[in-house]
Amino acid sequence: MKVLFVCLGNICRSPMAESLFVSKLQDLSCEYVVESAGTGDWHAGQPPDRRTRAVLQQNGIEHYSLARQVTKSDFEQFDHIIAMDEQNRDDLLRWPGARKDKVSLMMSWVEAPPTMNVPDPYYGTQEDFELVYELLDEATSELLAQLQRN
Ligand code: 4NP
Repeated sequence: MKVLFVCLGNICRSPMAESLFVSKLQDLSCEYVVESAGTGDWHAGQPPDRRTRAVLQQNGIEHYSLARQVTKSDFEQFDHIIAMDEQNRDDLLRWPGARKDKVSLMMSWVEAPPTMNVPDPYYGTQEDFELVYELLDEATSELLAQLQRN
């Protein structure tokens, strides 16, 4: 099972989703490939935003990867391409080679989501990153539970 988390810059939300999801997989024996990417390329090659790293570290999560942009081949490689907000999803649906059947919204995996969009915390405060963490903690648990069931 191959899962790609996508946001705009790939330095705040999607690397947090990736790290949370990977941390939840550690006790499972089944094989997952988990990556994240951005619809934009401005931060390619950079580690996650220091506020994302801080909130992950506070929660005992060490894993993170470097930013990259979405590619056409991601639509072939991955089974699920999961967008953080509706803008990211709409951009993915217009991507060259887009596989619409593989694209979903992160919060759509939650049964009664408080919001359909994981808010962009980039221009916000550490508290905004903590709110994003809470949303993604629940959403990645629900995602994993559903993928394990199917
Ligand atoms: P992300 O947040 O999409 O959650 O990684 C952002 C990061 C960078 C920018 C915007 C959002 N930016 O404009 O550079």
